[in-house]
Amino acid sequence: MDQGKSVILGLGSYVPENIVDNQALSKKVDTSDEWIRSRTGIKERRFARADESTSDLALVAAQKAIQESGISNDLIDLVIVATITPDMAFPSTACQLQHKLGLGKVASFDLEAACSGFLYALDVADAMLASGRYQNALVVGAEKMSSIMDWEDRTTCVLFGDGAGAAVLSQKGEGPSLIGFRCGSDGANPSLLYQPAGGSRSPASAETIENREHYLQMNGREIFKSAVRVMEMATRELLKDHGIGPYEVDHYIPHQANVRIVESLANRLEVPLEKFFCNLEKHGNTSAASIPLALDEAFRAGIFKPGQLGLLVAFGAGLTWSATLVRF
Ligand code: ACO
Repeated sequence: MDQGKSVILGLGSYVPENIVDNQALSKKVDTSDEWIRSRTGIKERRFARADESTSDLALVAAQKAIQESGISNDLIDLVIVATITPDMAFPSTACQLQHKLGLGKVASFDLEAACSGFLYALDVADAMLASGRYQNALVVGAEKMSSIMDWEDRTTCVLFGDGAGAAVLSQKGEGPSLIGFRCGSDGANPSLLYQPAGGSRSPASAETIENREHYLQMNGREIFKSAVRVMEMATRELLKDHGIGPYEVDHYIPHQANVRIVESLANRLEVPLEKFFCNLEKHGNTSAASIPLALDEAFRAGIFKPGQLGLLVAFGAGLTWSATLVRF
């Protein structure tokens, strides 16, 4: 039951130059390399410069993906940027990117599904391409998580990093095929992971700033449990759609939040951990950029062989979750 016909013509990613390791963080907040590594698997992350915004990170990743796709800028007629750290509340980061890339006056919009955003965007782009109204889509996951991190909250500020990843999709040409999608959400408990103020419910005020409500806030333990549960559910549902068992997948590319979440998922699926690609030790959790960064890095490392199956799976604030099946 293969859905859509989109292929990935090109992939690209970018992380800022500035590497901050756990040792450096422990000089800023009350934490240690040992605590961060043993609880999360993260060793270092990249932080963007003050004058670099999310669209700047997206730009470099997109340029690489477009170059690799072999198609010219003027053939791209759809831009979707998945992010929770847009340049501005509006206009969209996708519009900034469309202009910075010098694309035509094409359809551009942001999509917000937190860490599941890139996989949601692949699903949306695939459907828009399948409609026949669009030919070539640029899909980006980009985040400047450092812009919403609270340096007075050691339970969150050690977890995240900045980066971007991009893919060019088309229904024509050669490349890994997107053959199945699953997206879901449950908005019952938004405060498990959220940025409380700055929206219409609680607009910016002296009080919201005083209360540090413009920073990301999270109930880590609850999110951990939900993450394992919904990633297993999304994986099993998608594989069931296709009559495939978890072991038949050659490579899993999970959202890169915490190595213990990945280990629990592998355990529950009864799949060896070696099938799970991880690069979170270098980048931390880059939210919507996490999956495309990992996908690009794994692709460049040559771990995918033609004909193999890959499963991309993510969870994020919302809660949201998403899984995508890829034939390499
Ligand atoms: N350094 C040192 N000690 C710390 C730190 C730190 N950075 N952070 C917390 N601690 C302490 C706590 O205060 C606590 O101390 P106490 O026992 O004296 O009270 C102790 O460490 C244990 O804290 P826990 O919260 O129980 O630690 P846990 O093992 O649950 O790990 C973590 C916390 C890493 C946040 C984990 O719960 C987790 O990974 N959760 C999922 C987070 C996640 O994936 N978020 C991304 C979602 S995706 C998106 O949409 C952005």
